[in-house]
Amino acid sequence: MLPNLAAFPPDFLFGTATSSYQIEGHAAGGAGRTHWDDFAETPGNVTRAETGARACDHLNRWEEDLDLVAAAGFDVYRFSTSWARIMPEGRGKVNAEGLDFYDRLVDGMLERGLKPAATLYHWELPSALADLGGWRNPDIPNWFAEFTEVTMSRLGDRVWSTAPINEPWCVAWLSHFLGHHAPGLRDIRAAARAVHHVLLAQGRSLDVMRNLGLQNLGAVCNFEYAQPSDDSAAAAQAAARYDATYNRMFLGPLTQGAYPAEVLEGLEQHLPKGWEADMKTIQQPTDWIGINYYTRKIIHPDPNTPWPALRETHGPLPATQLGWEIYPEGLGHFLTMIHEDYAPDTPIYVTENGMAWDDHLANGTVHDPERLAYIGSHLAQVETAIAKGVPVKGYFVWSLMDNYEWAFGYAPRFGLVHVDFDTMDRLPKSSYKALQQALTERRAKA
Ligand code: NOJ
Repeated sequence: MLPNLAAFPPDFLFGTATSSYQIEGHAAGGAGRTHWDDFAETPGNVTRAETGARACDHLNRWEEDLDLVAAAGFDVYRFSTSWARIMPEGRGKVNAEGLDFYDRLVDGMLERGLKPAATLYHWELPSALADLGGWRNPDIPNWFAEFTEVTMSRLGDRVWSTAPINEPWCVAWLSHFLGHHAPGLRDIRAAARAVHHVLLAQGRSLDVMRNLGLQNLGAVCNFEYAQPSDDSAAAAQAAARYDATYNRMFLGPLTQGAYPAEVLEGLEQHLPKGWEADMKTIQQPTDWIGINYYTRKIIHPDPNTPWPALRETHGPLPATQLGWEIYPEGLGHFLTMIHEDYAPDTPIYVTENGMAWDDHLANGTVHDPERLAYIGSHLAQVETAIAKGVPVKGYFVWSLMDNYEWAFGYAPRFGLVHVDFDTMDRLPKSSYKALQQALTERRAKA
């Protein structure tokens, strides 16, 4: 079910990804409170009000977890650093225990021959900064620059790559316009400010890291294929608005210094005063672009609702545990789109791809052929893109292990490794073993 991994170019990297709040166990180790703790403890936001307080207890089991990454045969491990673990108040005082943890983690990767791929921010904003308005506050690019400096002055000499912010769309839009993630706002003005400040923070962070002499800096965005609901012009326009507010709202400013026209149509009046002057900080060359891809949506025009005047539904094809339609062609589409429309000379990594499935442990094993098929069908799209000349340089499975899936809590299982959330036992699933075998064969032929 997997394509022949040995046939991928010799410099192509295979990896797997996690994020701090989803696996570490945030309550331990002197970390400060985050807006995800606040959001999850507010009734109605998260399934069963589950939080990342314990998660996978990775803080205490990180050596075993890195062993699993290395034993699978992966080249790279994508992880994130928790702002509130390193700076509990978001600014000023540093929690030495927190920074030491990441220091050991990075060394642990190097000792196992793994390339450390760091993401500075994967969604758990310190509550102390959320109290000040979080991503709506125009000072947040400065706060994020300080966090970048503190963290990367310590880790930057050993990480292989760094991206400032995971999925700006989720940080800004899903959280401030759609209200599904912390801080749970549904407010167009807050959303516009968050969009702009996330972009500015990303730009400032890249500047800080370049000044520290760091290399291999990238940006990670998420993408969803927008399928018009029918052949009408209205449906095509609605899909174009979805595409602009989802897939182009961050890539456009980063690579071209401009928001898409459809975005300005809805958001310009809500952007912070003088936003145009920020575009020179927002537009940045990066050494690579990361794409996180999972699904497609069907977009219906909805003229009776305010801009962007649309409604989304899931498509008709087989879906994952979360109801996300499985549509590998979308990955191929975006690899080509990024290369042709935005960054013709920039290497691209698939920094996340994978599926949630209601996996069951039976007779000491977890059999998940569905996951292997999902990964295989998306890797086939990567292969096709490479054959067409798109410089795709690596692919990361989301995720190493079952973990805290944000507003859905612990029920959706995304891992290659099963986690028993009572005992914290880890058990590689059949998909892990199949990948391990394929990666071993690839290494043998190298
Ligand atoms: C995107 C996010 O980066 C990650 O945190 C999340 O768990 C996966 N996609 C699956 O939803």
